[in-house]
Amino acid sequence: ATKTFNFKLVLLGESAVGKSSLVVRFVKDQFDDYRESTIGAAFFTQVVPVDDQTTVKFEIWDTAGQERYKSLAPMYYRNAQCAVVVFDITQEASFEKAKTWVKELQRQADPDIVIALVGNKNDLTSRRAVPAEEAQAYADEAGLLFQETSAKTGANVGDLFKAIAKKMPLD
Ligand code: GTP
Ligand code: MG
Repeated sequence: ATKTFNFKLVLLGESAVGKSSLVVRFVKDQFDDYRESTIGAAFFTQVVPVDDQTTVKFEIWDTAGQERYKSLAPMYYRNAQCAVVVFDITQEASFEKAKTWVKELQRQADPDIVIALVGNKNDLTSRRAVPAEEAQAYADEAGLLFQETSAKTGANVGDLFKAIAKKMPLD
């Protein structure tokens, strides 16, 4: 028999970094070049098999990155057990914004929250503005998981959620 563990996961990050695209890739294995900016937040679920005995079910809140929705974020991260903070590797400012989300989570969210920093749009290497080494060094220092992904190609998206699942308390 397999045991299923449920965890609430919140996605945070600047508008247009690809939060919704990452979730849609993970949940439906699809990608759209034209995606509407999220209004408020959207809810998804997906399961990740961890091993023969264990499955993790993520209850995912995909928040809206536009500034006008900023005040809603605490409602979604307050009871989250994991957070995915996303930036766009081609936009330096989105990396700075991701760091401010990490600081806010470390001050205000559950002290045991598992946080993953994600550099998305890894397919756009010729336009890279944030070196992977710099993001990795920051993640190590802040105690975060780190992954570069592409919602467009699907690169590392499954690995990201699997790595988070493995870090969760499974007992
Ligand atoms: P908000 O809902 O406004 O917070 O934005 P978001 O972070 O959810 O971004 P969204 O997923 O809507 O993606 C924004 C744009 O980036 C869309 O046009 C996507 O097609 C594009 N995009 C998302 N992920 C990738 C990726 O990995 N590579 C490339 N090349 N484009 C991407
Ligand atoms: Mg969105």
